[in-house]
Amino acid sequence: MADKKRVFSGIQPSGRLHIGNYVGAMRNMISLQEDYYCIYGIVDYHAMTVRFDPKEMEKSIVDCAVDYMAAGIDPERSVLMVQSTVSEHSELAWILNTITPISWLLRVPTFKEKRQQNPDNVNMGLLDYPVLMAADIIVYKAEVVPVGDDQLPHLELTREIVRRFNSAFGHVFPEPEAKLGEVARILGLDGVSKMSKSLDNCIYLDESKDEMWKKLSTAVTDVRRKRRTDPGKPEDCNLFTMHKAFSKKEEVDYCARECSTAGIGCLDCKKILLENMYGELEPIQKKQRELRSDKEYVYDVLKQGQRKAKDIAIKTMDDVYGKIGISSFH
Ligand code: AMP
Ligand code: TRP
Repeated sequence: MADKKRVFSGIQPSGRLHIGNYVGAMRNMISLQEDYYCIYGIVDYHAMTVRFDPKEMEKSIVDCAVDYMAAGIDPERSVLMVQSTVSEHSELAWILNTITPISWLLRVPTFKEKRQQNPDNVNMGLLDYPVLMAADIIVYKAEVVPVGDDQLPHLELTREIVRRFNSAFGHVFPEPEAKLGEVARILGLDGVSKMSKSLDNCIYLDESKDEMWKKLSTAVTDVRRKRRTDPGKPEDCNLFTMHKAFSKKEEVDYCARECSTAGIGCLDCKKILLENMYGELEPIQKKQRELRSDKEYVYDVLKQGQRKAKDIAIKTMDDVYGKIGISSFH
């Protein structure tokens, strides 16, 4: 463990995971376990920057842990933890706040979006969200961060904060790099906006085959292909992006060729996609059901994750206290 480079990524416990999360971030989170020491956080403090129901929070966290493990995060090899249980995240965020200009945060695209979506709840946490995210990553001195492409501005900001800290106080943190999924962005069923829990345009990881088909069969494809006999443009079709994420190369090539020559219709293409998508998700769903019936085990994993994560975070904070001149008091 000691010689392995570290990875950190986080997912908000704000509902069921969807195929965008899976393809954009989780697949890399799973494969990076081979070569890195991975720490994966269920970032509850981030989820609290929008209105939430405290009665649902615990269940959402447990569901999120179940989804992580069902998809292939192995708690024997990696650390699975709840962000708020390692208070060093928010402590470091405070220190980083003091070196982060407000002007950097006002420019962040997700802040601008959320500010528009929730005009009656533009709270400090929303503005400060990327600073806490930077702290999540660097409190473990993580060097690689598997995420979807919507997180790139946050990662860039993290790197700027790291540069600022290191040059103001002395070198403590490496500059982390984003690791994007092969398909780094999946659009929603409308084919226009990003697939996102808050927009209700998702295919979820725990969807039955029937539910999945209902959604796929009505999902928007290349809007210019009006009739079955019109040739389509795969590159303008969100379903084709999903194919690239779930189907083998031969099938991707077949669908591209037959779509662009009007050889097959969209429904034919969607049927192939359904088989491949459901084929990959079915074993995950089986594991989800098993884990959901063993909650004690899930709580135990999170407890152990807290311990392992805290051990690392404490060491980093010792370095930080030293650099900022308060180590004698800690
Ligand atoms: P969130 O659901 O916002 O907590 O996102 C968790 C992870 O999934 C982040 O790394 C996101 O970048 C990624 N992600 C979320 N939605 C999508 C999407 N539609 N396509 C690709 N990646 C996504
Ligand atoms: N902002 C991320 C999202 O919405 C979640 C997140 C919080 C995260 N802290 C992180 C992702 C640290 C990667 C690393 O998806």
